[in-house]
Amino acid sequence: MRISVIGCGYLGAVHASAMAELGHDVIGIDIDIRKIEQLALGKPPFYEPGLPEILTSAMASGRLRFSTDIADAAGAQVHFIGVGTPQKAGSHAADLSYVDAAVQSILPHLAAGDLVVGKSTVPVGTAARLAEVIERSGTGATLAWNPEFLREGFAVKDTISPDRLVYGVAAGAAGEHATVLLNEVYAAAIAAATPLIVTDFATAELVKVAANAFLATKISFINAMSEIADVSGADVTQLADAIGFDNRIGRRFLNAGVGFGGGCLPKDIRAFTARAEELGRGDSVAFLKEVDTINMRQRQRVVAMTLQALDKPVYTAKVAVLGLSFKPHSDDVRDSPALDVAVQLRGLGADVMATDPQGIENSRLRHPQLTYSTSVEETLRGADAVVLVTEWAEFKQIDPVWAATLVRVPIIIDGRNTLDAAAWRAAGWTYQGLGRP
Ligand code: UGA
Repeated sequence: MRISVIGCGYLGAVHASAMAELGHDVIGIDIDIRKIEQLALGKPPFYEPGLPEILTSAMASGRLRFSTDIADAAGAQVHFIGVGTPQKAGSHAADLSYVDAAVQSILPHLAAGDLVVGKSTVPVGTAARLAEVIERSGTGATLAWNPEFLREGFAVKDTISPDRLVYGVAAGAAGEHATVLLNEVYAAAIAAATPLIVTDFATAELVKVAANAFLATKISFINAMSEIADVSGADVTQLADAIGFDNRIGRRFLNAGVGFGGGCLPKDIRAFTARAEELGRGDSVAFLKEVDTINMRQRQRVVAMTLQALDKPVYTAKVAVLGLSFKPHSDDVRDSPALDVAVQLRGLGADVMATDPQGIENSRLRHPQLTYSTSVEETLRGADAVVLVTEWAEFKQIDPVWAATLVRVPIIIDGRNTLDAAAWRAAGWTYQGLGRP
């Protein structure tokens, strides 16, 4: 099938490559010429494990091309919209200008029977509005909403073998036509018996924000428990293990630490709250404000723990920060708790040196005032305290005996509760986790 993918960021670039890998004929479109030039050379403009391999093989097969010209989308039957919906400046609502612009730009190139498929995370009600825009265009094309659940770091696997498919479609013949086309797009996943839910626009839009709101709530719940553990002497890691054995609860997303970040969870819960307020039901999701507050408090908590642990004023201290990306296996530093902690400590006058296997370049663009090093050894040397804020394997594997020979004072704040506390203490470190004795 001929497919266009409009927007080639984390979502679109992976989607375009994966669809070509599955045998479709794909054109990826983006207005950012630099991004397209890089992709056309087979080089993803961001770090995503497995993407370079499928990008290169799909391009070599001739099934994947990239362009900055939206006219090149003409002839495709299915047009995916994968542009960003960031938080609006000065508001909690989502900025839909990129989605609106993408839909407007594709209208002149649509043919009767074409399907425009929204993948971006949008406030409920957006799809119905855009369906009308497409209908009024008189092109004979229709709209479907097909939310994306990929996780950065596992995006290729999540796209090729999703754990579920959700189609939001119009009622009647248009919806049936959309379902047939999407079933063809996802033939491989459907043959693999991937659960499929065909529903209306509003449900499809809500499924996505509800999933992210639930995950965010789970993380803030365990972080709240870690705060209680801190004042009661309990161990939140064991608590998570124990409640996680209950299948109804589950152990995943119960890791307490510096909290959630990235380009999705934080802005999605805020946009959800803003949309619910617009719909007159702000009270229904008012708890998400608390989820957000608990989450942001973890960053302050790690900074405060560091200040307290130091044996000298912060403005005379060298602090080694291990981690910048919002989670391992990603170079994404959007709303990263790790980068936030580094910036806050620098703002308090600390001499911060930060390292990360993938996140340095993006961090430097945003915060040139920090000192970065690609070497863990250099980062640790002479440090008055070490703060671990992204649980990369590279950091988990650090030998505490070796690390103790490098620092000035062996103090470690484990902002991800990921290290073996006993081993670090045995090597002479003052170890502090969150909600761990
Ligand atoms: C998230 C969702 O997990 C995806 O399903 C969704 O498709 C995506 O957003 C999106 O909306 O596009 P992602 O942002 O890649 O995916 O990251 P997650 O793996 O969800 O992690 C989010 C944050 O939560 C990270 O900062 C991570 O460190 C933190 N986290 C995760 C915790 O603090 N504790 C945990 O137990 C788990």
